[in-house]
Amino acid sequence: MKLVLPLFPLLFVTLACAQLAPERLAPVPPMGWNSWNHFAERVNDRVIREAADAMVASGMRDAGYVYVNIDDTWEGQRGADGIIHPNAKFPDMNALADYVHSKGLKLGIYSSPGPKTCAGYEGSYGHEEQDARTYAGWGIDYLKYDWCSADDLHLDMPSTYKKMHEALLKTGRPIVYSLCQYGEHQVWRWGASAGGNLWRTSGDISDKYDRMALIGFGQHGLARFAGPGHWNDPDMLEVGNGGMNENEYRTHMSLWALLAAPLLAGNDLSKMTPQTLAILTNREVIAVDQDRLGRQGERVWEEGPLEVWMKPLADGGKAVGLFNRGEAAETLSVQLHDLGLGEAAAVRDLWEHKDLGTVKSAFAARVPVHGVVMIRVK
Ligand code: GLA
Repeated sequence: MKLVLPLFPLLFVTLACAQLAPERLAPVPPMGWNSWNHFAERVNDRVIREAADAMVASGMRDAGYVYVNIDDTWEGQRGADGIIHPNAKFPDMNALADYVHSKGLKLGIYSSPGPKTCAGYEGSYGHEEQDARTYAGWGIDYLKYDWCSADDLHLDMPSTYKKMHEALLKTGRPIVYSLCQYGEHQVWRWGASAGGNLWRTSGDISDKYDRMALIGFGQHGLARFAGPGHWNDPDMLEVGNGGMNENEYRTHMSLWALLAAPLLAGNDLSKMTPQTLAILTNREVIAVDQDRLGRQGERVWEEGPLEVWMKPLADGGKAVGLFNRGEAAETLSVQLHDLGLGEAAAVRDLWEHKDLGTVKSAFAARVPVHGVVMIRVK
C-alpha cells in the first residue's frame, strides 16, 4: 500500500500530459470550419450555432469535420481585472461552447500575440496566461494566434509563440494551437518546437484560382517539416465561396489533401450546393489527407503547366494528383517508376469513385483546364 499511494498523482500527471502531447492533439491534420473566409467581421453567436447545425445536418461532421472556429472580431474589452470579454456579438461564450459540444463538435477561437488583432480588436499581449485560462474556462478547444500588430513590438517570433503555448499547457485543457504568421522566418523549421500543431506557410488565400494555385503548388519542399502533431498550413479552404469553378475547387481540395493540410472549410455551410458538399465530403479524398502515416505529398514530375504530386500512404499505396494548370485540356501520363512503384499497379479514381483496373508501366488521363485527376495506386 505504502508503495502504491505515491504513484496515483504521478499516474494522473502522466495521463494529463499524454492528452496534451501534440501527437494526441493533432495526430492527423485538423478538420473543421472557420468563419473568416465567408463571414469575416459578420461572424456572431448565431452564425457559429448555424455552422455547427449545418455541419451535423450536412454530414460534414460524420465525414470528419470537428472544429467550429470563431476567427477575428469576437473580442470586446478587458475588465479592470484584465479579463477579456467578448463583444455584443457573443453574449455567452460558455453557452456557445456547450451548444457546439452538444453536437459532438469542438469550438475554436482567435487572438494575437500583439496588443491588437489583424482587424484591430483586443489582442493577448501581456495577458497570455490570463487569456489562456479564460479560453479554457469557456471550453475552447483550438486557438489561432495571429501575428499582425506584434510586428510593431519587434518581438522574437519563436519565443513569443512559445509563451502562449506554455500558457495553454498550464490550463491543462487540450487546445490545438495554430500559428498564423503567414509563413515568415521559415516557420516550418521552428513551429513545432514553439508548440504549434499547425502553422501557416503563406499569406492569406483568396477565392480565386490563381491565388489558391500559387499557394498550393508553392508548397513543394516543405514536406519534411510536417508529421503527426505538427502540420504545414497553406490556409483555409475557399471551396463553395463562388469564385472558382468545380474543376478548380476539386483541384483545391485534392491538392490540400495531398499536402496533408488542415481542412478548414470557409464557406457558408447553411447554404451549400450539392456540388460543394460533394467536394467537401469526398471521403476518399479526405482519407488521403487524414492518412495515419502523416506524410505530406510533393511534386514528383512537372512539364510546363502540368504537374504530378504524390503522397505515400500507410497501406503502402500512393495517392497521386495529375494537375493541369494550363488553359487547355491536356493528356497527362505518369510513369509508375516515378511513383516508386513496380511494373504494374491497381488504380482507383477518387473523384469518379471507380476502380480503373491494373495498369502497366504508366497511367494516362485527360485532365481539364485548371483541373485534376486524383487516383490511389497500389
Ligand atoms: C489575417 C489572417 C486571416 C484572418 C484575418 C483576420 O489576415 O491571416 O486568416 O484571420 O487576419 O483579421
